[in-house]
Amino acid sequence: MKSLFRKKSVNTMLAQKKELKRTLSLIDLIFLGVGCVIGTGIFVITGVVAAESAGPAIIISFILSGVACVLVALCYAEFSSAVPISGSVYTYTYATLGEVFAFLIGWDLMLEYVLAISAVATGWSAYFQSLIAGFGIHIPKLLSSAPGAGPGGIVNLPAVIIILVITAIVSKGVKESTRFNNIMVIIKLIVILIFICAGIGYVKPENWTPFMPFGFQGVVTSAATVFFAYIGFDVIATASEEVKRPQRDMPIGIITSLAICTLLYMAVSLVLTGMIPYVHLDVADPVSFALKFVGEDRLAGLISVGAVIGITTVLLALVYAQVRLSYAMARDGLLPKLLSKVHRTYKTPFTNTWLTGFVAAGIAGFVDLTTLAHLVNMGTLAAFTLVSLAIIVLRRKHPELKPAFRVPFVPVLPAVGALLCIYLSISLPGVTWISFVIWIAVGTAVYFLYSKRHSHLNKEKSH
Ligand code: ALA
Repeated sequence: MKSLFRKKSVNTMLAQKKELKRTLSLIDLIFLGVGCVIGTGIFVITGVVAAESAGPAIIISFILSGVACVLVALCYAEFSSAVPISGSVYTYTYATLGEVFAFLIGWDLMLEYVLAISAVATGWSAYFQSLIAGFGIHIPKLLSSAPGAGPGGIVNLPAVIIILVITAIVSKGVKESTRFNNIMVIIKLIVILIFICAGIGYVKPENWTPFMPFGFQGVVTSAATVFFAYIGFDVIATASEEVKRPQRDMPIGIITSLAICTLLYMAVSLVLTGMIPYVHLDVADPVSFALKFVGEDRLAGLISVGAVIGITTVLLALVYAQVRLSYAMARDGLLPKLLSKVHRTYKTPFTNTWLTGFVAAGIAGFVDLTTLAHLVNMGTLAAFTLVSLAIIVLRRKHPELKPAFRVPFVPVLPAVGALLCIYLSISLPGVTWISFVIWIAVGTAVYFLYSKRHSHLNKEKSH
């Protein structure tokens, strides 16, 4: 029984030799955050949600989700400055709540990341198709969307292909170049600012009434869906070993990037629902669509280019995050060794990367975006709830740690954050809950049948 809650010692982890170079500055960190966050959520999901469950009140959904994320971000900030070791929540949980929780959260995050790769690729595919349509090229319906996602769709081929391309890049160890990432992020930000500035002139305030056509429950349900747009800020925490001044810069980096995204999301949703009546927004490329709707075809094309580029950075970040996580779990003995095998020439977890790519590509080809986004959100909300609770444990169990950043009003703020996450997850559909419970049940079986015995801590003394 005791072995279930065995913990990795925080001090041992801190003392472990650091192999990664500390090269990231605060600005790099903020760009990394914004790069991982802004993607399919704002460019695609906003439209469907505004049309089907929020109406113009989608801005309130963004605020609600944003508040939950800020509260959780504070906890991430304290963790990453107290335990600046890569691995994110999985590592934090291993140090505080114990192995069984760490495994389950890692298992949960694997679901989140793999499905997020598929979901984000679906958004990429939508803007890619919108872009080439501008040149008169149309992919046959059969090959352009997953079954049920579009008329006559059988497989979303562009989504499958982009995932395989990204996998090939990551598997060869092409390092995320900070400068390259920063340029892509700047393009993405410029495109969003162009949309806001150009669109504002076409806003007709009458489009904002009725403001809340689906009632407040619609706003909450929508908040649970648009939550997807915020996912990714947690990826910054996985980079803590590479940050020059982690104690100071991690908290500022996480919170600043989240603040930038929240403000942009509020502005985009306000302009979007002001430009055209919300009922028309049920399309795969709402941001370009709105500009075409008002006759700004050239700008619409520009937005599609920016969205394709911008969403690519999210994909890269998610593939890295998934591979790093499963690699870390395999290195600790909790997953098969195969996943931590490093390629002789490329020095990357090659097999692991391709396995991730094939699974994500297979899912992206055949499952629609909303179903995927709901599952990703469920997994993330569960992880966020645990992070919020873990900070309360960390404070009690490790009073000796003096993080540069401390969440104010512990335990109240983390508790409110956890409750908000639970509240949002309750608004997700029943089928999402069932799938999630099955996934966790499988994970529990894997832990007891495999991981518990193979854990490297099994060979050491438990704490
Ligand atoms: N937040 C990321 C996106 O919107 C996952 O694409």
